[in-house]
Amino acid sequence: MLENMGNLRRTHMNGTIGSELIGKEIVLCGWCAKTRNLGSLLFVDLRDRTGIAQLVFDGDSEPALFEKATKLRSEYVIIIKGTVRPRAPEAVNKNMATGDVEVAVSELKILSESETPPIQVSDKVVNSEENRLKYRFLDLRTTAMQRTLLMRSRIAQIARNYFADNGFLEIETPILNKSTPEGARDYLVPSRVHPGKFYALPQSPQLFKQMLMVSGFDRYIQIARCFRDEDLRADRQPEFTQIDLEMSFVDIDDVISVNEGFIKKVFKEVLDIDIELPLKRMPYSEAMKRYGSDKPDIRFGMELCDISDFAKNCGFKVFSDSVANGGAVRLVCAPGAASFSRKEIDRLGEFVKSHGGSGMAWIAVGENGEHRSSVGKVLTADEINEIIKLAGANVGDLICIISGKSDVVYTVLGSLRLELGAKLNIIPKDEFAFVWITDFPLFEYSEEEGRFMAMHHPFTMPNEEDIDKIESDPGNTRAKAYDIVLNGYELGGGSIRIHDRDIQARMFKALGLSDEVAHERFGFLLEAFKYGTPPHGGMAYGLDRLVMIMAGCDNIRDTIAFPKVQNASCLLTGAPDFVDDIQLEELNISCTKKEVE
Ligand code: AMO
Repeated sequence: MLENMGNLRRTHMNGTIGSELIGKEIVLCGWCAKTRNLGSLLFVDLRDRTGIAQLVFDGDSEPALFEKATKLRSEYVIIIKGTVRPRAPEAVNKNMATGDVEVAVSELKILSESETPPIQVSDKVVNSEENRLKYRFLDLRTTAMQRTLLMRSRIAQIARNYFADNGFLEIETPILNKSTPEGARDYLVPSRVHPGKFYALPQSPQLFKQMLMVSGFDRYIQIARCFRDEDLRADRQPEFTQIDLEMSFVDIDDVISVNEGFIKKVFKEVLDIDIELPLKRMPYSEAMKRYGSDKPDIRFGMELCDISDFAKNCGFKVFSDSVANGGAVRLVCAPGAASFSRKEIDRLGEFVKSHGGSGMAWIAVGENGEHRSSVGKVLTADEINEIIKLAGANVGDLICIISGKSDVVYTVLGSLRLELGAKLNIIPKDEFAFVWITDFPLFEYSEEEGRFMAMHHPFTMPNEEDIDKIESDPGNTRAKAYDIVLNGYELGGGSIRIHDRDIQARMFKALGLSDEVAHERFGFLLEAFKYGTPPHGGMAYGLDRLVMIMAGCDNIRDTIAFPKVQNASCLLTGAPDFVDDIQLEELNISCTKKEVE
């Protein structure tokens, strides 16, 4: 039989009680995590979001209460009154925040019962990912999930406070928007009152925050939900949250400086870690050359080495042809990996192929010129020694060489470097290595579209010294764009925007957007730009990613209360789902194809 709380009201949270309360009467409530009946004593671990308190029921002095307590099962919700007392010395648990004390219960009310839970609420039990997400309301009771969401809440709070203290206003932007395809695919929402027309959910508040600058709000911040219909990965969700900001009358250093202040504050307040400022900066071209990535994990070395100059004249046609065809030959040298078995090295070759490389040549450096390698038959001993020298390799190292199109070689080697770093366990786990990547290319060429696309977005300002390259050498035009990278993740990115209509027109032209198309897509912003536009710029962080790295999670799902899975569905609610025909009729929609249930 269930009871009400009656006059009992919580006096403390469970995870906060300690020896300073000894002798005091307190009231606690929460969920029964574990019960142990020792015959005359019964212990209950009582959980709430702050932790666990140990309750004790004494069968000898309180037989009726003891009898009631024997009915408690996992996840029952109770409220108790009791007196805090020290634990017996052998029962002290140093691993538990409340491990010095227990609460001798004098009153118990069972507020709610629980059926046997389909998953165990425990940090020690590994539930399947599917069950965790299906029964998310239980999974969220685990200490790990509670800790992460608590941290998320604090980070958001610190962001609000920090930016408010620095003159930023929090302004909401619309969720139902006009579709402006450029970037990821939009999520569309049909309009009932405008048959055949659709809203798009925002991929980011980009255009609105720029308009807010035109309107004179000077500094804007929003913790903004964004939606992108793109392939999911461990660090991507179809709906995610940005800490989004924009500033007027600024250039790159101003944006970076205010954001470094935020990074310093959030790491200090949440993790008590002092981040040294200023953060490192690295131009995009250097990041690619050294790490094969525009989001380099700089916690470890193993930098790429370009041997194209040597390779163009070497005896191995695959290498020399690559260079002759405008490509490159580059390598990474994995310390101590010469001992890898043939099978392990073959697996690296497969890794390279699965990342778009055509194959991997390798040299395992042995003593006294006794090397194992895949190129022994096609390169002379001198040539192999030359590669070892260029790579700066030592005895015991494994040199992995990739040849082909320059950008492919970069990405493949960049990924291989990370794979090897993880396999060799040389990436320090508790370090936070930030780097700003700057001077991104303004455009990237899309083979698919057969045209240049904006690498960041079409409103990004070119570097002043490159403005004349927009038409003559678009591929080498650098942008006033920057990303903040942490431990190999793109944590955030932004740019200084174009506020000059001539440059904007040249940019659209270079992107192959006619005046009509540009006006059709972005007319409202271009119109606004006619009436006095301050120089402005900003950036956005992925809040989920920031939490993921700060909380040490492997997957972005663990930072979101109710996330989607790989195929963008929600296992808890079953979204997306079919809707009633009548709803479709109202929206003037008929489906030409339906998923088989
Ligand atoms: P960008 O597209 O680089 O820039 O996004 C900014 C940051 O948002 C995060 N992010 C994501 N996080 C989770 N899941 C996703 N699918 C996802 N996509 C992006 C990343 C990324 O660095 N409007 C511009 C910002 C600006 O220029 O001010 C923008 O959205 O951490």
